[in-house]
Amino acid sequence: MDSCLRGLCTFIIIYVNLPPGGGSLWAEWWNYEGISGPAYWGRMNTDWYLCSKGKNQSPIDIDPRLLLFDPNLKHIDIDGDVVSGTLVNNGYDLTLEINDTDAETTPVNLTLGPLSYNYRLKQIKLHFGSENYIGSEHTIQGKAFPGEIHLVAYNSDVYANISRAQTSPKGIAIIAAFLQVNHNYRNPPVLWLLLGQRTKLLKGLHIKQLLPNIDTYITYEGSFTQPGCHETVTWIVINKPLKVHKDQMETLRNLRQGDMDHPQAFMADNFRPIMPLHTRTIRTNINFLKGCTMAKDMHYEVNTNFKFEN
Ligand SMILES: *[C@@H]1O[C@H](CO)[C@@H](O)[C@H](O)[C@H]1NC(C)=O
Ligand SMILES: *[C@@H]1O[C@H](CO)[C@@H](O)[C@H](O)[C@H]1NC(C)=O
Ligand SMILES: *[C@@H]1O[C@H](CO)[C@@H](O)[C@H](O)[C@H]1NC(C)=O
Repeated sequence: MDSCLRGLCTFIIIYVNLPPGGGSLWAEWWNYEGISGPAYWGRMNTDWYLCSKGKNQSPIDIDPRLLLFDPNLKHIDIDGDVVSGTLVNNGYDLTLEINDTDAETTPVNLTLGPLSYNYRLKQIKLHFGSENYIGSEHTIQGKAFPGEIHLVAYNSDVYANISRAQTSPKGIAIIAAFLQVNHNYRNPPVLWLLLGQRTKLLKGLHIKQLLPNIDTYITYEGSFTQPGCHETVTWIVINKPLKVHKDQMETLRNLRQGDMDHPQAFMADNFRPIMPLHTRTIRTNINFLKGCTMAKDMHYEVNTNFKFEN
């Protein structure tokens, strides 16, 4: 198992490095700390003004006491399962770019829940921390998880592609799940599906094996958590963490920005700080009045987080 893991590390570190847009756009080289960090994103590029001026920004802190039960929130439907794509280390996060025009697979669609349109799955992104108490973008009552996975989908009823959808009304839906570190390989090796491949091109990835139970969730209207912070995202945060073995977490934490010959800073801690909720409502399909104790479960999940310190 150990040598296998080392093999994985080597495999993972190989990937690319340059700023999106081809490498010449150093003015756009944002980061997660310092003078090109989140506090400055809004000033680095006029197209990113929402990063500092927006009133519907993400991520947010989820306070279980403020959740509004909405009886009209249906379950979320995920149609389809198998995808192909390319795993990319873009310097900011680990992204699986799904090929939604692949002839051999059918696009995976998200519908229902808070969504009024058909959303086509396009990317899977990982944010994670260098320690177990940081890493997720959203937090629950001020507490972070070691990581967060984002399933990014675009409104394919209205928009031709994700680039158009990401700047347009109701353009994007993101399912987010927290990562929780666990010491037990008997649990489904979820992240393994992403990391455990030897080639950059992934084929036959089963989305449904990646996701924990998505029956209960919270939802709110927010933004991308990276520049330009467009406020076009319906967030769906699942109330059930995805278990990640500590060795997989180590693999992630060894991941660096830059390529193998020019390794740069560690990628870990690639999360944006919490943004203000302002006047927004966080809705949920968890019915507290019916004796459901999800608020407690949330506390519980957050608390167990701290049992897994090494
Ligand atoms: C997803 O929606 C597209 C239309 O946008 C459709 O062609 C495709 O078959 C759907 N996928 C599944 C698995 O039903
Ligand atoms: C997606 O798959 C199709 C064929 O299945 C292929 O022609 C195309 O190059 C792929 N696109 C990317 C970005 O890999
Ligand atoms: C996305 O769709 C728009 C039309 O809505 C088109 O102008 C644009 O070229 C497309 N972009 C990509 C990357 O395909």
